[in-house]
Amino acid sequence: MGNIDISKAKKIAEEVKAAPNKKQVCGEAAAEYVKSGMVVGLGTGSTVYYTIKKLGEKKRNGMEITGIPTSIQTETIAGQEGIMLAELRDCDKIDITIDGADEVDPHLNLIKGLGGALLREKIVAMNSKKMIVVIDDSKLVTILGEKTPVPVEVVKYAWKATAERLRMLGCEPKPRMSGSGDVMFISDNGNFILDCKFPKIEDPYTLAQQIKAIPGVVEHGLFVNLASVIMVGSEKRVRVIERETAH
Ligand code: A5P
Repeated sequence: MGNIDISKAKKIAEEVKAAPNKKQVCGEAAAEYVKSGMVVGLGTGSTVYYTIKKLGEKKRNGMEITGIPTSIQTETIAGQEGIMLAELRDCDKIDITIDGADEVDPHLNLIKGLGGALLREKIVAMNSKKMIVVIDDSKLVTILGEKTPVPVEVVKYAWKATAERLRMLGCEPKPRMSGSGDVMFISDNGNFILDCKFPKIEDPYTLAQQIKAIPGVVEHGLFVNLASVIMVGSEKRVRVIERETAH
């Protein structure tokens, strides 16, 4: 596995202390989908954090799973929980992936990647039999792009030219900066991220293809037709929305 950056895991642990309880109830509830013997894709963020903590508890109570982390941050947290980890290339299949999202539309399409882990998240989701998405109710939108930009991971070499191409699709690409704000954020894969604010995204299927067709784009945060189940945490309960036909 990659180098462990403990500071990132500490940062997310601090963030979740301030998180509303709805992330916790939702994240923990999703762990119930996981059964002993499964290979589990482990997403990134402050909601799936609670899923990983719950899986750690289940592991200490005897459940055996293999986790495929989607970021160095998740690798650290899951490692601290004692969950056995593997690389995707060493697994034939992923039974289930649990991950957060930044926006979810009524068709169960997603915007992901505000945490910067979208490339590995998408690879793991696409190679999973089932993707469970854990969100709080603030993430539900009627149309993608309502609130958040689409994060696009781009190669450093071409980032300005790639940004211009993205702008021609109708967005305002903004380079993601690191925490200190003076240098550009670098993903776990060594790339830059451009946060592309589009007006409301009427046709995410077409936009996904258009973004992917630009040379210099590594991956983008539109997750179309990937989620099987959305679990929505609210003040009162966790609502489960299932896709009618599993992908
Ligand atoms: C990470 O790159 C993202 O895709 C996260 O999954 C997403 O931002 C949701 O994170 P939270 O659960 O922290 O809101």
